[in-house]
Amino acid sequence: MIVANWKMNKGIVQSQQFAEELKAYAEKHKVVNADIVICPPYTSLDVVNKKISGSAIKLGAQNLFYETSGAFTGEVSAGMLKSCGCEYVILGHSERRKHFNETNAIVNKKVLKALDEGLKPIVCIGENLQEHDDKLTEPVIEEQLTKSLAHVSTEDIGNITIAYEPIWAIGTGKNATPHQAESVHNFLRKKIKKMYNENVSKNIRIIYGGSISPDNAKELFASPSVNGGLVGGASLEVESFVKIINSSL
Ligand code: PGA
Repeated sequence: MIVANWKMNKGIVQSQQFAEELKAYAEKHKVVNADIVICPPYTSLDVVNKKISGSAIKLGAQNLFYETSGAFTGEVSAGMLKSCGCEYVILGHSERRKHFNETNAIVNKKVLKALDEGLKPIVCIGENLQEHDDKLTEPVIEEQLTKSLAHVSTEDIGNITIAYEPIWAIGTGKNATPHQAESVHNFLRKKIKKMYNENVSKNIRIIYGGSISPDNAKELFASPSVNGGLVGGASLEVESFVKIINSSL
C-alpha cells in the first residue's frame, strides 16, 4: 500500500494534472499488486475523485472531525468525505498532533467515527527525536497504539492501516533504517496480537512513513513486516511517486 500525503499542497489545477498523469501510468502498467491511495487537501478531493474514477487508484482525506454535522465551523465530517469519494482517511498524523493539539483520545474518537461511517483509517503513530534518543520508542508508540485504537472491535480492525512514522524522520531527509522500521513493526505486531489475536497481527497492514524517497524505498519495503509507505514530500511529483510505487511491486 502506497499512500500519497500531499499535506497543504496543490490547488485544483495541479491536483487534476497529477491525478490524470498517475491514472495514465496506473492504466499503462496495470498496477494491481499495490493499493495506491492519494490524499489531497479537502479542496481537491472532488476533482481528484473525478479524475481517478474507473482506475485502481483510491482516494483518502488527511483528517476528519468526529461529529456528524452541526455548529463546528471549519470542520469536515466523515459523511462529507464519503460524498467526495473517499475510501481512506489519515488520522493522528504527527503534524495534527503537534500543531492542532490532537491527543490520543481525540484520534480515537476520529477513528471510531470513521469506522462507523465506513471509512478506512490510516492511523499514524511515532516517537519524536528526544524520545528516540532516550530509547522510549516502544513505550511511546505502545501508548499511542492502544489509546488510538481503544474500543475498535476485532471485526473493524481489519479496516485499519497503521502508519509508523518516526517524527524525526518526517520531512527531514533522515529516514529510519530498514532494520529500525522492521523492528518497530514487529514490536507493533506483537502488541496487536495481545490486543486482538494472531490472525489480526499477521494480516494488519503496517506501513512506514518518514522521508521515503525513490532512493530508499526499495530497501524500506523489502522487510516482510513493512507493508508499504506513507509518502509526503516525494509524493508531490508524479515521477518520484511512481518510482516509489515501482519499488514496492
Ligand atoms: P515525508 O512525510 O515523506 O515528507 O517525510 C511523510 C508524512 O508526513 O506522512
